[in-house]
Formats: sequence, C-alpha cells, structure tokens
Amino acid sequence: MVNYIEIEQSKFLQTYKRFPIVIENAKGSRIYDKFGTEYLDFLSGIAVNVVGHSHSKVISAIEKQISRYMHISNYFYQDIQIEYASKFLEIAGYDRLFYTNSGTEAIEGALKIVRRWGNLRNKRKIISFSGGFHGRTYGSLSLMDKPHYKELMGPFLDNISIINFNDINALNNSIDSETAGVFIEFIQGEGGLQKVSKEFVEMLWELKSKYNFLIVADEIQSGMFRTGKLFAFEHYFVKPDIVTVAKGFGGGLPLGAILVQSNLQHIFEKGMHGTTFGGNPVSCAAGLATLEIIYPDLIPHILEVSRYLWEKLELIKNEFPSYVKEVRGKGLMCGLLLTFDAIILVEKLLEERIITNATSKNVLRIVPPLIINNEDVDLFYNGLKNALSKI
Ligand SMILES: Cc1ncc(COP(=O)(O)O)c(C=O)c1O
Repeated sequence: MVNYIEIEQSKFLQTYKRFPIVIENAKGSRIYDKFGTEYLDFLSGIAVNVVGHSHSKVISAIEKQISRYMHISNYFYQDIQIEYASKFLEIAGYDRLFYTNSGTEAIEGALKIVRRWGNLRNKRKIISFSGGFHGRTYGSLSLMDKPHYKELMGPFLDNISIINFNDINALNNSIDSETAGVFIEFIQGEGGLQKVSKEFVEMLWELKSKYNFLIVADEIQSGMFRTGKLFAFEHYFVKPDIVTVAKGFGGGLPLGAILVQSNLQHIFEKGMHGTTFGGNPVSCAAGLATLEIIYPDLIPHILEVSRYLWEKLELIKNEFPSYVKEVRGKGLMCGLLLTFDAIILVEKLLEERIITNATSKNVLRIVPPLIINNEDVDLFYNGLKNALSKI
C-alpha cells in the first residue's frame, strides 16, 4: 500500500499533529481507515460534521447543486445563497449576513465592522479574552494570547487588550468610552471548554449600555445547535450585535458568515468588503440541507442524548476522581478537565477506536456529531473507562 504518512511527512509543512490513521471513508458517527478499521468519531471534524458524515440528504443537496453549477462569483444573484441566508437569519433572529469561506475570515470581517463603526465614533479599543481562539489570520491572532501560535510572527494589530476570561474586575477596568468592541466565545472551544459566567455576561451588558460598544459573539464552534440551542449565547438570554459562524454552518463544506443586527446593516458600502468564494453555492446547499435536518426535528434528540452523555461523564468523574476533576461545557460541546496531559487519554482512546482530541493541555474535548444515539454514548463510556483504567 502507498505509504501516505511517509509522503505527507516529506511533502507538507509539518504544522499538524495528525492521528496515525489514513482515512478511507466515513459515515454517520463512524470513520474507517484504509485497513477497514472502524472508529467512533467524537470529534466530528473539529465540531464540523453536525449531522454526521455523508448524510444522504446533504449528499443529495450537494449533487443537485453541483449538477447546476459549482461557482459563478458574487457578481450574480444566487437562489441557493439567498434561500440559506433567509432561513438561517430567520431562525437566528438577525437581519443581515455576509458569507465567508472560513471561521477566521468571519472574524476578520467582524473586526473590520467593529473598527469602522468605532472609527466613526472615535472609539479605537478592542477587547478580547485569555484562552480565546478565533483563527490563524493576523486579525484573529491579534485577539488571542496563545504565544505558540504567534511566535516571531508579529507585529499584530494594535489597540487590542486581551484580558482575563471571566475576570469581572479586569472587565470593569478595561472597558470605557473608547471601547469599540468586545470579542467573546460564550464557551471557549480551544480554551478548555470554559463557559463564560452569568455574572460576567451581566457585567458586559451593563458596561455596554453605559459606554455603547459592539459585542461580537464567536459562535464558530459553539453554534449550529451544538449546545442544544442555535447559539451558545442564547443560554444567557442576551443578543450580541454581531455573530460569527463557520464549521457546521457549511454542513461539511467550507462556509462561514458574519451576522449583524439591523443597526449595522449599512456599515459597508459597495466594494468595501468581498471574497471570491464566500457563499460558495455548493457549500450553501450543504449548509441549508444540514439546517433543515436539525431544525426543528433533531432538537429534542440533541437535548436527550446530551443529557445521557452528561450522565455518563459524571459517572466517569465519580469512578475516576483522581483523574477527572470536572465535566465542562454544554450539550454536545463538552470536555473533561483532567489531572494529567489530555494527549495521553486521547492516545489511549484511539486504542479503543474512539476519536477525540485535547485542548488547553489537560482537557479532553468531546464534540460528537449531533446525531449520535445512546448506544454510541455507551460505547464511548465503555471505551473511556477502559482507557482510563490503563493510565
Ligand atoms: C471559536 C472559533 N473561532 C474561530 C475559529 C477559526 O475557524 P477556521 O479554522 O474555520 O478559520 C475556530 C476554529 O477552530 C474556532 O473554534
């Protein structure tokens, strides 16, 4: 057999820590390697494949669109882009959107909106939070405090303060009348599945009404019903001015978006922002089909299976108190805070044919497809138990 691993290692810039698995195909919550080995996928392409791999309705929608056309440019009005936007905005309760190809591009666009809005009002400061993750382009990296991702790559954007997540005093001391915007993940996906506290959100909105700035919710990982609601911020009963989405939004194909409320609908003039591929019609077809599978029919299932998974995770915590300190996150975006390096558990789980990953060094991230059932959870629980017993 061709040694794909060896070829990758000699041909690619070595930026990714990959699993030693060469993929043949994937279906539902299962992945198969070239030897036919089956894996239970509790990572779902890093929170992308929300309705599992190769869902028949998503494939049909993609095939239908491909047979019409694949790319035509944003010089034209495209029914599929418009249909997806209309449906998504209606469910989301937002007024307008701009399609991107990826999460980080959605953040870049949101940064431009915040800067433009702020520059018109003499507000030049942007706030973001420690542990946050927004992407790998310069704007996104400028919002992040992860030194390894930024080493020797500066200079980054200025007038950005990264303050401690959930630190109410720091928030109070940093925000003032010169603040243009705040970028926040309500659940930090890469930052160890940490939730923002209710008090912190309350203070953020109190400061917003005092100083008038924009709040940008990064829902790129936590959106698309992963927490049981379309967006994680809905659990806090607030409505940010701007929302960025990607990952599951494209139903497995590259697609992101910036959503805005009506007060920002005219923030850009024609030509001020754009992209060749953003809103690719095939991606829109896949996204729309995915949304139609989830909303509204799958929601009770997501809530039910989340409850069952959390029950099992709590059980694991009680069974392995010296290894598992905390169950974190919300719904099907959760994690285990461990007393040791999570990579060790990820590798042990791989031996059990279960795919997960590690974030924030000591957190096992669990982001399965939303279509998993209780049997999948049982399989995961038994595998987790075996893996922890071997540590
Ligand atoms: C919260 C969040 N924001 C932004 C991004 C960047 O998205 P992309 O990798 O599509 O650029 C990610 C990716 O992991 C993310 O989790």
